[in-house]
Amino acid sequence: MSELKLVELSASNIVAANTLTLKPGQEQYVAPVSHSIAEAYVNPSTAWPRVVLEDDEVVGFIMGNFDPEAAEVEFRGCIWRINVAADAQGHGVGRFAVLALADEARSRGFDRITVIFEPGEDGPAAFFDRIGFETIGETPYGETIAALPL
Ligand SMILES: CC(C)(COP(=O)(O)OP(=O)(O)OC[C@H]1O[C@@H](n2cnc3c(N)ncnc32)[C@H](O)[C@@H]1OP(=O)(O)O)[C@@H](O)C(=O)NCCC(=O)NCCS
Repeated sequence: MSELKLVELSASNIVAANTLTLKPGQEQYVAPVSHSIAEAYVNPSTAWPRVVLEDDEVVGFIMGNFDPEAAEVEFRGCIWRINVAADAQGHGVGRFAVLALADEARSRGFDRITVIFEPGEDGPAAFFDRIGFETIGETPYGETIAALPL
């Protein structure tokens, strides 16, 4: 069985994280990892960027935002970005990353994590549903807001 590890985004994995591939059709649901890296750079006190290693190979990227003071409740403890390499999808990498972020949120005193995503055929709705997220609202742009109680 392969070993999954979550590590901080660092000089040694940033290039691999930034070149993670997606399956055809998925690009429209997630901004490039480079956007998250830039966001993490300008929001160092709240951003939580992490890389998933499978047998020491970079297979995923997840970024949380932890800001109890955020004006919008859905940005207080949330998944800002997640993506798993095309070849590594479908065997638990995404679940591992979300549950690790949930552990971090719990240890910081949050009682739920939220995520905002676009509904649609190749989108992540079924994934978040399987993890246990429930829809709690919709943004003015028609995106789904979902939450996972911790
Ligand atoms: C969404 C994403 C992160 C899922 O990662 P993953 O590693 O493939 O997911 P997992 O293998 O951990 O799947 C966990 C569960 O969700 C289910 N699942 C995952 N993707 C699914 C899909 N497209 N349709 C139905 N079920 C799905 C799995 O079957 C699994 O179910 P199980 O608990 O019954 O075994 C990945 O597909 C991805 O990177 N997508 C593109 C980027 C994206 O859309 N990001 C979200 C933006 S907010």
